[in-house]
Amino acid sequence: MPFFNKFKELDILGVQFNTNKSSSWVGLDNQRVKNITLLDKYELFLQYFKDVENFKMLELGAGPDPNIGASCRMWKQYFHSTSEIHVADIKPSALKLGSEGMEVHVGDLGNIGFLTRLAEKKWDFIIDDGSHFWLHQILAFRNLFNSLESGGIFICEDLCTSFGKMRDFYSMGMDQKDPVEYFLAISRRCCGIEQSNDRISSIYNLTELDLRLADQVKMISWMGNSCIIVKK
Ligand SMILES: C[S@@+](CC[C@H](N)C(=O)[O-])C[C@H]1O[C@@H](n2cnc3c(N)ncnc32)[C@H](O)[C@@H]1O
Repeated sequence: MPFFNKFKELDILGVQFNTNKSSSWVGLDNQRVKNITLLDKYELFLQYFKDVENFKMLELGAGPDPNIGASCRMWKQYFHSTSEIHVADIKPSALKLGSEGMEVHVGDLGNIGFLTRLAEKKWDFIIDDGSHFWLHQILAFRNLFNSLESGGIFICEDLCTSFGKMRDFYSMGMDQKDPVEYFLAISRRCCGIEQSNDRISSIYNLTELDLRLADQVKMISWMGNSCIIVKK
């Protein structure tokens, strides 16, 4: 039996609430899309939190208006009823998710002040499904990873924007390394083959902050479009 077949629960909820992280969803054009789900891989990690009381999670990105809150509803159903499900989005329309029990933060994820405020809380799980701009993906990790509890999980989603035709748009024309290169550099540091900080930072331009964050990584793994990172 294929290993991930045993992790179905989150995907069933994902299909029910129509998030595009799931194996089947109806797009804004009303067409059903079938895809390889991300949620069985996420569930491998997240199952350990399922019954944890007062679990605190933050998703960056609430979703397009006609389908806003799809993934938040899935998380709310999956995790313990005492959990706090927070979502951050630039659109004030996300505030309506407050009536469903979500805690909504409206702001620009390209703004360090906003990220710093989000980092004031201690999180068990953070998932970045926001703009997918390279700058924002790297900023989110740099500014939020430290706010995870020990043993917490950080997921950066939609790393496909580091490849092919999407590169021009998602780099915002900036001459910088893409998030896949960035997380690979963090991975390289974590796997311990390279012992010298100087060598890694000079090859990949990792900053002192990046090296400190890398030292807080217990495990870093890759699947499809996502990088899943467990904090020490
Ligand atoms: C891919 S959608 C999120 C989908 C949702 N997580 C789901 O699975 O159902 C991306 C969201 O990021 C938000 N977003 C885009 N740019 C942003 C920014 N600079 N700051 C905050 N949110 C942003 C959009 O408004 C949109 O709601």
